[in-house]
Amino acid sequence: MTDTAAAVNAPSPMEPSMYRVTARDVESHDTVTLTLAPMADALPAPNPGQFFMLWAFGIGEAPISVAGVTADGSIVHTIRAVGAVTDALVALRPGDPVGMRGPYGTSWPVDAAAGADVLVVAGGLGLAPVRPVIDAIAADPSRFRSRRVLIGARTPGALLYPGASARWESQGVAVQRIVDRAGPDWTGPVGLITKLIEQSTLSEHTHAFLCGPEPMMRFSAMALIDQGVPPEQIWVSLERNMHCAYGHCGHCQLGSLFVCRDGPIVSWAAAQAVVRIPQR
Ligand SMILES: Cc1cc2nc3c(=O)[nH]c(=O)nc-3n(C[C@H](O)[C@H](O)[C@H](O)COP(=O)(O)OP(=O)(O)OC[C@H]3O[C@@H](n4cnc5c(N)ncnc54)[C@H](O)[C@@H]3O)c2cc1C
Ligand code: FES
Repeated sequence: MTDTAAAVNAPSPMEPSMYRVTARDVESHDTVTLTLAPMADALPAPNPGQFFMLWAFGIGEAPISVAGVTADGSIVHTIRAVGAVTDALVALRPGDPVGMRGPYGTSWPVDAAAGADVLVVAGGLGLAPVRPVIDAIAADPSRFRSRRVLIGARTPGALLYPGASARWESQGVAVQRIVDRAGPDWTGPVGLITKLIEQSTLSEHTHAFLCGPEPMMRFSAMALIDQGVPPEQIWVSLERNMHCAYGHCGHCQLGSLFVCRDGPIVSWAAAQAVVRIPQR
């Protein structure tokens, strides 16, 4: 076969692989966690922080972060319905097919935090992309000097993964949760997640992984820096609309970064150049 013929016959990088929904857990009125198993050949295993492009057939594609990988290699995604594609993904039921391509993007540098104090800060749906980090820390806690997770949500009902916090605690990870608005059954703290950061003991030995709405990551990063955490040891996950997801189309460009290729995980030192910093 000539080089030209081989190129013509090569599969398109946009072509999805077929997966099937094997489990669907309802997290809240608009959010579900789907477990997806390959119907034929599996895609390469993702690293924590990477994402896949999920196809809702007949509707379109959306980038969705990996929220976990099961023992049999199935991929776990937590998805919030905010528009046509995510509405269709959230409506999927066990047995339904879904297209996937990936994994794409950079990953959380968990290994670089070995021996250091690890802090994970997650706001709302932002707990999904950092869940693989927390699972990795909980699986081998002695690799890290200390392990702390701060989780914020608008309401107690919006907190993801009931039961996971108790499991992580039992594995040696300190977990604190805070909500913006308490319900009658909530006995925990109320306020913004930065309140928990200000109460934490942090230093130049802290490595922090932040995920949530951009204002939450900005204010959290500034609170961490105020406590002596170096910007190059603070990692955030950026989100932008995407099309190709492999650095070809420029759709996701943010300043000098292509978020699909140079992100979504970047250091705060790199993010500061492209994300608006609020005035104090
Ligand atoms: C790397 C990455 C990881 C992501 N991980 C998850 C995840 O784990 N779970 C999840 O539910 N969602 C995740 N998202 C967001 C998800 O991709 C969007 O919500 C989705 O593409 C919206 O498509 P739609 O057709 O449903 O809605 P649309 O009608 O396209 O959009 C609905 C609203 O969401 C806004 N929007 C669309 N895409 C994005 C985006 N990428 N970032 C911010 N706002 C957007 C639109 O401006 C509009 O206001 C991720 C996005 C990126 C870039
Ligand atoms: S989505 Fe095409 S370059 Fe990033």
